[in-house]
Amino acid sequence: MDPIRNPYAPGAGTPPPELAGRDELRELVKIALARIRIGRPAKSVLMVGLRGVGKTVLLDRLRDEAEGAGIQTMRIEAPEARSLPAMLAPELRQALLRLSRSKRAGDLARRALRGLAGFVRALKMSYGDIEVGLDYQPEPGLADNGDLEHDLQALLEVAGEAAAKADTAVAMFIDELQYVAEAQLAALITALHRIAQRQLPVALVGAGLPQLPGRMGRARSYAERLFDFPTIGPLAVEDARAAIVKPAARENVEFEAAALERITQATQGYPYFLQEWGKHCWAAAETPPITVADVEAASATAIAALDEGFFRVRFDRLTPSEKRYLRAMAELGPGPHRSGDIARELSREVQSVAPTRSNLIAKGMIWSASHGDTAFTVPMFDAFMTRIMPGEDWRS
Ligand SMILES: Nc1ncnc2c1ncn2[C@@H]1O[C@H](COP(=O)(O)OP(=O)(O)OP(=O)(O)O)[C@@H](O)[C@H]1O
Ligand SMILES: [Mg+2]
Repeated sequence: MDPIRNPYAPGAGTPPPELAGRDELRELVKIALARIRIGRPAKSVLMVGLRGVGKTVLLDRLRDEAEGAGIQTMRIEAPEARSLPAMLAPELRQALLRLSRSKRAGDLARRALRGLAGFVRALKMSYGDIEVGLDYQPEPGLADNGDLEHDLQALLEVAGEAAAKADTAVAMFIDELQYVAEAQLAALITALHRIAQRQLPVALVGAGLPQLPGRMGRARSYAERLFDFPTIGPLAVEDARAAIVKPAARENVEFEAAALERITQATQGYPYFLQEWGKHCWAAAETPPITVADVEAASATAIAALDEGFFRVRFDRLTPSEKRYLRAMAELGPGPHRSGDIARELSREVQSVAPTRSNLIAKGMIWSASHGDTAFTVPMFDAFMTRIMPGEDWRS
């Protein structure tokens, strides 16, 4: 059918035509932010889930909704290579500049901008990657100790005071939080803890891989009490159907019931896969309705597209020994697997493959569901590994 009208949108962070099954969570975050804004206790929300379940698009949607409610937002993606303060500073600057235009809160916002100037200068030594234009001179003694934990707390406090004065809140939307280094994560948690005690309107809405709660807990033992960690999972069958059917219905295209059934089965409700299947079904069909035969034709091209995109981008970042480790896991099935079993599959000792396992965790490819267990962070990665490294060659 007409490729120009194809509504589906597979892609990292690409907004879906229909954001299915996330209403409850949107409501939860809306309430949490509204409470934090008026100084009522509420936990910040950190969404955790596997690759491709829709964390990024949900975070973006939540941010739009917060902006719509008049909250000052910051959007940050924690990369593997840059520091949190370097990412935070320019975003905070913009939020504070916006606040500084407020009549009531202008003075406090300008004070916070002075705090930012002190923060940046003092931390430049330890975090050389901080680069941000400064609008005001530092205020001596304000957020300029050179110690991230102390300075971040001081900085967010003055920002919170400005936001409170303006009857708004400052909300940080941080994606890929699991990549933030532990000491920086600890500083962020401490700052938010202090902010909560002072009932200042500063909130964090975050997203990350399933290892995030464990990392937060190791950084600060009280993290569990400060945050909610809702799981973002595959869509329930009804929601998965809606994700496929609704965008097509808007184009007057229907799916046969059996075709829809095939799609929800093949994708297991994973949002990225749903978008890919939707797109390829549309392309495969000559005319509506979309049939089982169309889905069958589409499955092959959808998998090929995933192999070249979604899976491939991850695979290409791996060293040969990391690939072998994942291939051994795949040999055992979808998982999770015991570290001992994986080592045995590799004909190695657990200790000798432990560094490879650690690197794979740091890269966000696998995570430890419980002690000694190892699971893929990418859904259906086991099947991909056996497609890309078929046979027994990998053993040698
Ligand atoms: N609720 C949803 N309903 C339908 N499609 C969705 C939904 N959420 C996400 N998608 C689609 O799934 C794909 C992946 O979304 P997104 O990039 O947000 O996932 P992610 O969890 O951030 O993945 P990663 O961990 O790789 O960053 C996108 O194509 C998006 O349009
Ligand atoms: Mg993402």
